[in-house]
Amino acid sequence: MNKELAEKGRKRIEWARVHMKVLGIAAEEIKKRGKLKGLKIGMALHVEAKTACLALALRDAGAQVRLASCNPLSTDDSVSEALNSVYGLPTFARKGETSEEYYRNLGSVLEMGPDMVIDDGADLITLLHLERQDLIAHVIGGNEETTTGVIRLRSMEADGKLRFPVVAVNDSYMKYLFDNRYGTGQSALDGIMAATNLLLAGKSIVVAGYGWCGRGIANKARGMGGVVTVTEVDPIKAIEAIMDGFTVGKMADVIANADFVLTATGDRDIVTYETALKAKDGCVMANAGHFNLEIDVETMRSKAKVNTVREYVEEFNFENGKRIYILADGRLVNLAAGQGHPAEIMDMSFTMQALAAEYLAIERTKLKPGVHILPRKLDTEIATMKLKTLGVKIDKLTEKQKNYLASWNEGT
Ligand code: ADE
Repeated sequence: MNKELAEKGRKRIEWARVHMKVLGIAAEEIKKRGKLKGLKIGMALHVEAKTACLALALRDAGAQVRLASCNPLSTDDSVSEALNSVYGLPTFARKGETSEEYYRNLGSVLEMGPDMVIDDGADLITLLHLERQDLIAHVIGGNEETTTGVIRLRSMEADGKLRFPVVAVNDSYMKYLFDNRYGTGQSALDGIMAATNLLLAGKSIVVAGYGWCGRGIANKARGMGGVVTVTEVDPIKAIEAIMDGFTVGKMADVIANADFVLTATGDRDIVTYETALKAKDGCVMANAGHFNLEIDVETMRSKAKVNTVREYVEEFNFENGKRIYILADGRLVNLAAGQGHPAEIMDMSFTMQALAAEYLAIERTKLKPGVHILPRKLDTEIATMKLKTLGVKIDKLTEKQKNYLASWNEGT
């Protein structure tokens, strides 16, 4: 055990815990109801302080928990050490783990023979279906944290391959409206600023994708004084970006003027080698999507001379004489170079995760294999708890107002 590292991690976990009040309240209630008692829960999430709070809450509720990372670069080693050696919760993760180690670690989580899996990006669930089918009959179901994972699971479902129910936690309002938008908005810029120590004000910033994450990033970048351009493939979202006051254009055109390019589309090849050749000399590129395929770093690496110029910053020298800077090897910059979403955001996302785990335990005999959305009343419950922890009171409908809303011919 590395005592110093463990103590650093313990402090980070306790700091997060203080700022995750809703999870604290919900965890007490889940524990009292006892539905998670005795269940084995295998998790593959970003191993950092807020995730630790979720894992510990599930264990306090009576579950046996194992945790691996869902990304080779996102682990906070201090938190992993603290979970193992201070809290006695087994983790299988190391920052900078190789692809082989990554899959071995997911395998170690599955070795427990989970009743339930909690995933972020769907690698754990995919591995279970491809390589550990012997364990599937035992699995009640799973939860999925992120948009990319939900898209993958829906395509598994469409192919008739998904063999147990999975709750798309991402698709709950209290997750995507806040985590994807405000969480990614803040943490992606945090990661860029921590890695580069460069100014955003007055810079030309291209944001690829205007989903909830892209919206959040574009708005925060504008708030920092950036001059923001959005790229999109969806005409409706493109119009939304225009009406939100952003310039919209094609990546191949707008990259020539960009000081920063930030991808958040969930798809691959947003910045290819050929596109990168058109970039402005000195352009900084980073990715905030789940997988590291949005910027084609692999091809660029094979074509350029590459130097590490700062931690998480690599300089690519192209044959045409231009230099570009890629952060964190094109992996999600908010966790690879930063500390992930703020605790108050993960408070809501991970309360949703904890309630989703309880929902699966309760509904285990009723839910069919496939992707499920949580009942909307859970969104309202979490929002109500959040407002309470914020000390904010809101108005209530009177009976007369309720009746008015329920009638179709009053006041005409
Ligand atoms: N911290 C833990 N999980 C996270 C996620 N999916 N995104 C950002 N920060 C996180």
